[in-house]
Amino acid sequence: MSMISLKHEYSDQLTNNMKSQIDLRNNISLKEYNTFKISARAAWFARVGNPGQAKFLAKEILPQYDRFLILGGGSNTLFAKSFDGLVVHMAMKGKEVLHEDATGCRLRVAAGEDWPEFVDYCVSKGWGGVENLALIPGQVGASPVQNIGAYGREVKDVIEEVHAIDLKTGEEVSFKNEECHFAYRDSLFKSEKNDRYLITFVDFKLHKEDEFHLDYGSIRDEIRKSKEAVSYQSIAEAVKRIRRSKLPDVGELGSVGSFFKNPVINEDDFELLREQHPDVPFFKVLDGYKIPAGWLIDQCGWKGYREKDYGVYPHQALVLVNYGNATGKEIYALSEKIREDVHSRFGIHLHREVTFVE
Ligand code: EPU
Repeated sequence: MSMISLKHEYSDQLTNNMKSQIDLRNNISLKEYNTFKISARAAWFARVGNPGQAKFLAKEILPQYDRFLILGGGSNTLFAKSFDGLVVHMAMKGKEVLHEDATGCRLRVAAGEDWPEFVDYCVSKGWGGVENLALIPGQVGASPVQNIGAYGREVKDVIEEVHAIDLKTGEEVSFKNEECHFAYRDSLFKSEKNDRYLITFVDFKLHKEDEFHLDYGSIRDEIRKSKEAVSYQSIAEAVKRIRRSKLPDVGELGSVGSFFKNPVINEDDFELLREQHPDVPFFKVLDGYKIPAGWLIDQCGWKGYREKDYGVYPHQALVLVNYGNATGKEIYALSEKIREDVHSRFGIHLHREVTFVE
């Protein structure tokens, strides 16, 4: 008898005893749980619907498995093959106003809430702070993990505190903003303590007074074109229109948005690059110059590339897509070819934003 089936028997017993406490199933398709729409399966799958279940999972269930994976909306995950361990799906819902006054509010939001719906909710209430992050696929609990960002704002700008269950001890823990070690598409939860914490709630600080961020890219022009007054609502709508024109709708075409991070290069390398490519787009950042990976990939001629069911999105070279039946391995292999090409042409290393699960 294999080790896996031994575990199955044990877990079956556990499930029967604890049915009321956690929803644990086996051999579940993950196709609807990853926005790349890769046909992988999970040997075991647990749905966590409340903090008690999260604690129970940490204390009683996880110790029985060699491998586990926390999955929110699956909008940053690429499965190479079926997952032979336990997939933990965060499904906690709910929003609570902790404090509200004339200037703003503090909100506690459960990790399983849908991020784009949350943005729409805030905008409809007249609360500002997340409107530039409209339409980013994924769940609220995943937003701090990779510090989602777009159009000049990052979620770290509005996060006050992150609450989680420590999966080693089963205890509740909280991290103030500065303790989350937020960086560009990175945080404590992604790099340093990957898989140590199951995020349960995120506290946001939003404002009601006009504070608009229009300087990134074409937001200002987009609002001007629409002839609407600048408001949280019109910013969110402008961001949605821009995103729809460049990025695939994950409901229609499998993708994870940006597949790579934008690389940062030092001043000397930047000057050299600019000599050869005077039109290179860039953003000055603290430690150098951020170069759009989409531009580098585009320059190498990959935009619109397609082989079988995998390819590079025709409107944004930073996005790899699954046209139907692509496998995770095919998409990964394509990303390696692109990395090699960009490196041999520009001497720049691209790093993946997506988490590759083997
Ligand atoms: N560009 C090209 N060809 C392309 C794509 C881009 O030449 O195929 C050029 C554009 O013309 C522009 C520059 O690259 O001059 C930057 O492009 P864009 O404004 O589309 O932004 P990005 O740097 O490619 C980043 C984020 C996106 C975010 C946008 C807007 C990363 C890795 N990506 O993309 O985030 O929506 O800025 O803020 O930082 C995501 O993380 O999933 C994501 C979509």
